[in-house]
This record gives sequence, structure tokens and C-alpha cells, in this order.
Amino acid sequence: MDSPVVTLTRNGAIAVVTIDRPPVNALSADVRRGLLDAFDELADDPGVAGVVLACAGRTFVAGAEISEFGTPAFSEADPNDVHAAIENLNIPVVCALHGTTLGGGMELALACHYRIATPTAKLGLPEVTLGLLPGGGGTQRLPRLIGAADALEMMLSGAPMSAQTALEKDLIDVIVEGNLLEAAQRFVGELVATRAPLRLASEVDVDRASVSPTLFAETRTSLAKKARGAIAPARIVDCVVAAVTRPFAEGLKYERDLFVECMNSRQSAALRHAFFAEREAGKLPGNLAGNAKDMDLRPIRKVGIVGAGTMGGGIAMNFLNAGIPVVLLEVKQDALERGLGLIRKNYEATASKGRMTLEQVAQRMALCSGSLEYAELQDCDLVIEAVFENMDIKKAVMTRLGEVCKPGAIIATNTSTLDVDVLAAASGRAADVVGMHFFSPANVMRLLEVVRGRDTAPEVLATVMGLARTIKKVAVVSGVCFGFIGNRMLEPYLRECESLLLEGATPTQIDHAVEAFGMAMGPCRMIDMAGVDVAAKVVLERRKEGALPADPSYRTACQMLFELGRHGQKTAAGYYRYEGRTPVHDPEVDRVMEGLAAQYGIARRSDISDEEIVERCLYPLMNEGAKILEEGIAYRAGDIDIVWLNGYGFPALKGGPMHAANVIGLEQIVACLDHYADKRGNAFGYWTVAGLLGDLAAAERAFGDA
Ligand code: 3HC
Ligand code: NAI
Repeated sequence: MDSPVVTLTRNGAIAVVTIDRPPVNALSADVRRGLLDAFDELADDPGVAGVVLACAGRTFVAGAEISEFGTPAFSEADPNDVHAAIENLNIPVVCALHGTTLGGGMELALACHYRIATPTAKLGLPEVTLGLLPGGGGTQRLPRLIGAADALEMMLSGAPMSAQTALEKDLIDVIVEGNLLEAAQRFVGELVATRAPLRLASEVDVDRASVSPTLFAETRTSLAKKARGAIAPARIVDCVVAAVTRPFAEGLKYERDLFVECMNSRQSAALRHAFFAEREAGKLPGNLAGNAKDMDLRPIRKVGIVGAGTMGGGIAMNFLNAGIPVVLLEVKQDALERGLGLIRKNYEATASKGRMTLEQVAQRMALCSGSLEYAELQDCDLVIEAVFENMDIKKAVMTRLGEVCKPGAIIATNTSTLDVDVLAAASGRAADVVGMHFFSPANVMRLLEVVRGRDTAPEVLATVMGLARTIKKVAVVSGVCFGFIGNRMLEPYLRECESLLLEGATPTQIDHAVEAFGMAMGPCRMIDMAGVDVAAKVVLERRKEGALPADPSYRTACQMLFELGRHGQKTAAGYYRYEGRTPVHDPEVDRVMEGLAAQYGIARRSDISDEEIVERCLYPLMNEGAKILEEGIAYRAGDIDIVWLNGYGFPALKGGPMHAANVIGLEQIVACLDHYADKRGNAFGYWTVAGLLGDLAAAERAFGDA
């Protein structure tokens, strides 16, 4: 055989088939072809008594090659033919698992007669996270091996299981310490010597005891709530029903048909887009990327955090979780103790839910110290300031940090609204300064906007992007502008939401329309949760700077609610009134909006449709994204999608606002913006189409096209 990615070697009577396709041995057409060739050759080789299937590099196969879906390569060398060739070999085939055996890799493993793994191996069928179902026999073999209930749970959650759990469920046969390949060859040698039976998952019947009479109905009911509108989970259930009720070959064909349906769906295209966009976002483009490889990244062994409030504490936990020591700096002892106490309380709450041990709590707290003295920050490699959002206070802190931090230390600001370049200048060493905009709660939210200042040194940016991976954040680089990527796009979204309220829509109607589109939470509920006071203060500050449109009614709803003391959930009244945490329509808010409409001469109407709400709230947001791209604030359209998917509850099934705009059609978005400019007037430029958006639409191109 002659394959660049699959090799066949012989060690006496034992053959070893090795897949070597970095970085993760994805099951591409050439790997499948190589496997078919190898197993064809083995079928005709009487000198071989047993086979080991293994992978070179960091992992066993981590899935089908995602970039081949929807391309001709997908239809080449059917994985089910590969699996049949393995199963039907009349000598034992053992697969040796290390790293992450996922998706198509797991299906390959399920087709082998025996499975052996390292203690750290993980096994899973994460297809659902890409809007897919296991399409290479996974939905048919897994229920036969571990029962329908467990198989459903594994495929619907997409979460991988540890080797230990897999052993307990008889999904693997042995866990081995030491050299995996040698152990696998010894294991297959024993199977040969003892004439152990060949175990074919396809020939097993699903254990009836694992199929309670209500299993499928209950699963479907729970999906209707949890996976609103998602196609793949429902189809996974259909396939498991087939595994229970139909012969294997029929089930396999049924699974393939449903897989193709999922693969061709917009939902899967969106989720696959997000998968690659997330990985792309971590990379610095062009010159910076070239430099990143050669440049000396700065080691981050100790982190200082100034301000132990809501954000400071949450940020600290990220580093403690990664085993990096943290020193928290505060102005007053009581604030320091409160901050440290909150971190401990958070960890203890996690421990009480059984998600960490008390010993781990102690270990993390032992890495965390507090101080009132700047001198304590001298040996920190990175210091993040998270003090009050006030330019004078922050400038003073940055100046102090510029003085005390050791040469080469990185100084970061967590500001959400202030100019990073001004703060950088205050430090006196702007090349060392970068924005690290965490989202609240900072220990939970995955998103991190890394703000590249005018003078930020490339190695500082690259170091922080690498560090983000260490602390398990998805990081996106933003240039300096008000609100960076996420909050800047939020502004037109909230502006239209508030205009609609004045024109006669209710908070409930707006939230329902936007949530039906898929947003995790409508804008009114969102502000109530974040705090009407917080939102109103940002508007007030921006007004002072003259940075807001001259429109007198701009975001007036939010400011009025603030003045009325309706600060949102925390005062049990905002855009809604609250019964516990449940928002309830409040006629008082209608009266407030009627009053404001009268004050600003805005006509109220009762014909506002859900369609108008979605178009008016979301299309200007997409238009702002286009401006962000053309100004070079974001490197790529996909980066913007990642911000909105991870920080703002944009529906994953729609792939982010820029991807969603592509799907709607850029021409359609432009036509719609023009329509509202016409209908509502455009005195403040709200509906002016961004140059990039107009150009792409005219050229029938899309965001993200090269
Ligand atoms: N196909 C194509 N490329 C893949 C891939 C896949 N299945 N899995 C990972 N990659 C690529 C990534 O894009 C990245 O490329 P880059 O370096 O050019 O950016 C590189 O491999 C490394 O990936 P990560 O940066 O994610 O590395 P990590 O070490 O953090 O994670 C991983 C590794 C756990 C394997 C993670 O990449 C992952 O979860 N991959 C996807 C697994 C998956 O969903 N598999 C199912 C695919 S669908 C399927 O199998 C259908 C089948 O049933 C028919
Ligand atoms: P907070 O009010 O909870 O905490 C601020 C802390 O800083 C207080 O404990 C205060 O004692 C301390 N502090 C003030 N001046 C100090 C000084 N000179 N030296 C040392 N400590 C000082 O505020 P929060 O919410 O944690 O915000 C902090 C920063 O994070 C702000 O810049 C804010 O814009 C930003 N941010 C906040 C988000 C949020 O949702 N709360 C989200 C993202 C960013």
C-alpha cells in the first residue's frame, strides 16, 4: 500500500496500522482511503494474526475532517466501508487510544474488536456541537455497546468521557500505563494466543433494559425545552430509536441519510463556522503572526490584580484555577477582605455542589494573597487593573503601575469604556500596556476581548493571547474604540430597542421577538439583569464627552427608568417589575414610555411587528460590525461572531451576527437599512449603510470572503 497518511508495518505476526495526519489525525478522505487499502491488504495476508490500529502524534483520531463536509471529498471512501473492512477481518483488530478519540475517531474505535487506552484518554461523540449526528455508525454501535440511555446521554451532551468511565461502561477493555503501542501489541498477541472471539458491535442487540418505555418521549420533551429548534439532537433520538427497532444495516443507512440532512442544514454550517472562527480568533494575522513565532513571549508566572471588586475577584479565579499565583491589591483592608472572602465563598459553593474538593479549595486559596502595598506587585509578570470605571482613578493607578512593575511586566486594564491609549500613556510605558476586557462573571464567561493599543508591543499581544488559552478563555483582539467590538455593537441594538418602546412596542413584545430569533435573552431583560443604572451611567458619561448622537431622544428610556429608581432586577423594577426573578409586564413602564413619546413628539402605533423588531434591532448591529471591520478594529468577521456568540448570547445555531447577515443576504440587509432610512428619516445617520457592507452587497460577496 502507498498512503502518505496511513502506514502498515508488521512485527512478526502482528500488523500495526498507523494514522499520521497532524495536528489531530482527522479522518479525511485520504485517511479513509489509506485505511481501506491497509485493511484490504491485511485481508489477503495469511501471515498476519492480529492488528493494532493506532495514531501518531498527540491524539487518536479527533473526528472526521470538518472542512470536508459539504465538499466532494465527503463522499469519497465511505467511513462505513472502512468500518466494515475492520469488523469483517477474521483476525482481531485492537485500537490503541490516546488523547481525544472523538466523533469519526470514536466510530472507528467502535468498529474495532477490542479497545485499549491510556489513563488520560478521553472518548466522545461531540457531533451535536457541530449541528451533526455521528454519521459513521456511532448512533447504531454505541447503543448496542452501552445501552440506549447512556448512548443518548453521550451523544446529546457531546461531552467526552474519561478512560476510567469508559472502562466501567465496557466501552474499552483495558487501561494501560506506559508505552501504549507495545501494550496494544502484547494485548492483541494474547487475544491471538487465547483464540479470543472477535467482538462485532454490529452483531449485538441493544440491551432492552436500557430502554425504558418512556425514554424516547421524555428525551424529546426535554429537548424541546433545552435545545429549542435544534435539528441534530432530534435526529440523534430518531437514530437511536432505529438502533433499537431495526436491523443494523438498515439503521446504518437511516443514520447516513439523517447525517447528510444535518450536514446540509444552515444550523450545522453556522456551528462549523463558529468552530473554525474560534480557532482563527486566537491567531494574530499577517506580520504579527509571523513575529509571534519568532518573538520571545513573556513568561507569566505571577499575576497582580488591582481592585478586588466584582471583576477583580472573578479575574483572579481564572489564574488560580490555572495554578498561577495571584496577589490582589486594594485601597482599604475591609475591601481586600471582602474580595478575598468572596473568592473563597465562590470556591466553597462549587465544592458544596461536589464539583471540586475542599482540598482543591485550599490549594487555590493558598495561591492567592492580598495587599495594600504596591511594592507587592514588583515581582508580578502581569498586573491587571480592575478599579472603578473612572478615568482619573484609573490614570493614577496606571501611573503607579508604570513605576512599580518590573521591566518587561505586562500592564493590563479591564476598562470597558475608557480609552486604552490614554491609560497606556499614563503608565509611561505604553508598549507594555494592553486591554484585557473580561466579561461578568469573569470566572464563568468564556469571552475575553484583548485590546490592542496604538503602541502595544506585538509580543505583549501575543503573550496575552497565549495566556488566554491557558486560562481557558476564547480571546478576540479588538482595536481601541468606544465599547470595543461587543459593546460598540450593542449600542445601536439598544438604541433601536428603546426607540421601539417609545413608538409603542412593549418590553415583553421586544424580548419575545428577539428571543424567537434565538437570542438567549431580549434586550430589556438583559439591561434589567446588568443594571439599568450601569447602562444609564454609560449613556450619561458618553453624553458628557459629546460622543452620542445629537438626537434628544437617544436612549432616553433607559435614563428615565434610572431616574425613577428602576435599576432593574436588583430593585425589583426596571423595564419590568419582578416577582422574585420573574419579569412581569408593568403598565407603569407603558405610561413612562407614553410620556416620553409625547415629550419628544413621537407617534405611538400598534402595528409594530416582530419582523420589524428583529430587523430594527439586529440589522444596525450587523451594520456596526461592518464599520468595525472596515476601520480595522476587528481583524476578521469571524472574530466579531465569536464575541457575540460568547459574550452576548447570540444564537449559536445562527453562527454570530456577521455569519447570520451572510445567510440573510447582504443585499437584503442593505435594502432593509435603506427602507428604514426612508420610512423613519435618517437625520442622525442611524441607517447609513457602512461602506464595506454596501460594497460587499453590490459585489454579491459576503463577510469573511477572502
Ligand atoms: N477536523 C478538522 N480540523 C480539526 C478537527 C477536525 N475534526 N479537530 C481539530 N481540528 C484542527 C483545528 O481547527 C486546529 O487547527 P489550526 O491549528 O489550524 O487552528 C487544530 O486541529 C488543533 O485544534 P485545537 O486548536 O482545537 O486544539 P485543542 O488541543 O485545543 O483541541 C480537540 C483538540 C479536542 C480535538 C478539538 O480540536 C476538537 O474538539 N475538535 C473537534 C472534534 C469534533 O468535533 N469531532 C467531531 C467531528 S464531526 C464527525 O466526526 C462526524 C462523524 O461522525 C462522521
Ligand atoms: P467594583 O466597584 O465591584 O470594584 C472595584 C474595586 O476597585 C473596589 O473593590 C474598590 O475598592 C477598588 N478600588 C478602587 N480604587 C482603587 C485603587 N485606586 N486601588 C486599588 N483598588 C481600588 O467594580 P467592578 O464591577 O469590579 O468593575 C471594575 C472594572 O471592571 C471597571 O473598569 C469596569 O468597567 C470593568 N468591567 C466591569 C464589568 C461588570 O460587569 N461589572 C464588566 C467588564 C468590565
